[in-house]
Amino acid sequence: MKILLCLVMFFLLVNGFATAQNLIQDSCKKAAASNPKIKLDFCIKTLEGNPQSKAAKSLADLVMASTKNAATKTTSLKAMADKILKGKKFAKDSEMPLRDCLELYTDATASLNEAMTSVKSRKNKTAKVGMSAAMDAPSTCETGFKERKTPQKSPFTKDNDVLTQTISICLALTTMLK
Ligand SMILES: *[C@@H]1O[C@H](CO)[C@@H](O)[C@H](O)[C@H]1NC(C)=O
Repeated sequence: MKILLCLVMFFLLVNGFATAQNLIQDSCKKAAASNPKIKLDFCIKTLEGNPQSKAAKSLADLVMASTKNAATKTTSLKAMADKILKGKKFAKDSEMPLRDCLELYTDATASLNEAMTSVKSRKNKTAKVGMSAAMDAPSTCETGFKERKTPQKSPFTKDNDVLTQTISICLALTTMLK
């Protein structure tokens, strides 16, 4: 009897695990098909690499987890911009874009947090407005460095690319919510 119970538990567990895997795979396939900028392998790797999205049982869970992941990223970029500014070792022409990026990351973090609140209250369209606002932050930040009289090197280029992808995934997943 105990063995039977163990077996049942085991299958339930394996089944639950497989469901989460399929949820991520299926959702990423749809997301990648909806937006050519979303790379399928990046989507799967990002969502499977995050414990919260890996545990997602529904698309809404996945949206929450991926948005939280994006907010963590904007928060750490904000800290990075702050640190560079306080370190005072940047080129003088970089100061303005650095300050702009700091503000952009701050606002993007707030927008993503609002988007999570909206998803929780099933205001999916409102959530997308917040995500779209956050989506502009990485590219606007990059443009700031390029548009100086002497174009400056952005310390965020690689992170900004990842952030753009990450937020695109949030948006695509939210679009898939009914
Ligand atoms: C938003 O998505 C949820 C699924 O999480 C769904 O139940 C709800 O009906 C959607 N809301 C709207 C307004 O479409």
